[in-house]
Amino acid sequence: MMKYLSLILFIFAQNALSSEEFPAGSGTTSDFSVQAFSHPMSGTSSKDRRDFTVGNSFFQTTWVSSPASTPLRDGLGPNFNAVSCTSCHFKDGRGRGLPDTDGKTDMSLLLRLRVKGENNTTTLHPNYGGQFNPFGVAGVPGEGESHVYFETITGEFQDGEKYELKKPIYYFKNLNFGEMGENTILSPRVGPQMIGLGLLENINESDILANADEQAKSGDGISGRVNRVYSLVTGPFAIGRFGWKAGKASLLEQNAAAYNGDIGITSYLFPDEECTYVQTDCQRFKTPDDISPELLEKVTTYTKLLAVPKRRDFGTPQVFRGEKVFKAINCIACHTASYTTGNNSNLDVLNNQKIYPYTDLLVHDMGDDLADDKGNHINEEGATTREWRTPPLWGLGLVKIVNTHTRLMHDGRARNFSEAILWHGGEGQKSKEAYLKLSKADRDSLIEFLGSL
Ligand code: HEC
Ligand code: HEC
Repeated sequence: MMKYLSLILFIFAQNALSSEEFPAGSGTTSDFSVQAFSHPMSGTSSKDRRDFTVGNSFFQTTWVSSPASTPLRDGLGPNFNAVSCTSCHFKDGRGRGLPDTDGKTDMSLLLRLRVKGENNTTTLHPNYGGQFNPFGVAGVPGEGESHVYFETITGEFQDGEKYELKKPIYYFKNLNFGEMGENTILSPRVGPQMIGLGLLENINESDILANADEQAKSGDGISGRVNRVYSLVTGPFAIGRFGWKAGKASLLEQNAAAYNGDIGITSYLFPDEECTYVQTDCQRFKTPDDISPELLEKVTTYTKLLAVPKRRDFGTPQVFRGEKVFKAINCIACHTASYTTGNNSNLDVLNNQKIYPYTDLLVHDMGDDLADDKGNHINEEGATTREWRTPPLWGLGLVKIVNTHTRLMHDGRARNFSEAILWHGGEGQKSKEAYLKLSKADRDSLIEFLGSL
């Protein structure tokens, strides 16, 4: 009898955990505090938990310049944006990006740089490289400061309610290596929350390709595409999944690139530090082999295992209604609700999970206002200056608790969910227009639904 009872309970539990209330399947966690984004997937083995803990400590580590008495944690710079991963992904959450009024941009906001070439090609900036680095170690000048001011865009909903968006315009002060130049394209990006990334990495390629096929057939003006990138790990033509433009195919590579580009820590994947020809002090202070393959692997395990918390207010009438609106105005076309992950990970908790990330992992032309540059230049690793990867929406309702702000979009320009929708243009234009036509009650339930994710 007991045997049957426990079998029934087991089946019940399995079904419950494949419900939308548990976005990360059986690995879903249920802490809604400021630590909500910092837990390993439930069911992580004790061996993997040990790696997670070591990875966590290196995610938090403050790097110092070499040589230092702490050789495991030295190698910072010569140029850098921040001294730790957690400076930009605070509490494994997301950065704020922008100040409320004109001023300096937040540390968590990176500016990628490209210079326009012929036929929509671009190259790295000759003096400042591919990423603006405000800081340098002792003896190495930082590149300068990035600032922002805002232009106001106004509009109104069909029912007459008005809204105001603040469009950020970036500029530099105290540049140490000359003017940026008119042909420089800035691509601002804020550090996103770190949850559920191993699950996204484990979505089958065929499912992502199917999203693109379905959109191509639908004829509704939405035509996301897979961003094929050159991967140092898996070779050419890998499907880019990570970063705001799907520029990286794997977490290992994304993490190694972050160490290199953001902190100035080299690894076997990125053995060289970016010091342009004119940055001679930078060249003198280069330090080789800063993080070992083993530690990089552990940080990667950490980034794979960070769990997604359970939904809040799941099943309330308003959230239910909001979900219907989300589908009715076709948000669902790009923010694809669910997948069953593949069976490809060495971390069991990431395999065969029914997940609800709300992304197609495709890049879309999102219109002039969001574009880095209206000219559709190839920005980096295949995506253009107009294209952005549909970000996952899971966990977004908890950002206000974890990071004490509600900013959204690639540079944090949207101050709340409603503004995030209002910034949608290009392939997202129709959904935005449908949102403008909704009744106040429907708009509110849509926002309530987003907050419950
Ligand atoms: C200066 C701020 C900053 C620092 C420091 C930083 N990141 Fe990031 N992180 C970002 C930004 C911005 C992005 C988006 C990058 C893009 O769009 O290309 C990002 C993206 C990521 C992603 C992909 C997330 C996704 O949803 O696609 C991972 C993983 C990541 N970072 C890991 C790390 C690790 C590990 C470190 C420490 C070695 C680190 N980051 C340090 C700002 C930062
Ligand atoms: C054409 C595809 C597409 C459609 C349709 C679409 N989105 Fe998006 N969504 C995106 C992309 C791409 C971004 C990121 C754009 C950026 O950051 O510049 C985004 C960003 C967001 C964000 C902010 C996420 C974050 O992490 O900052 C929210 C919230 C959101 N969308 C909700 C919606 C809602 C609600 C709808 C329906 C009204 C919708 N989206 C329709 C593609 C789409």
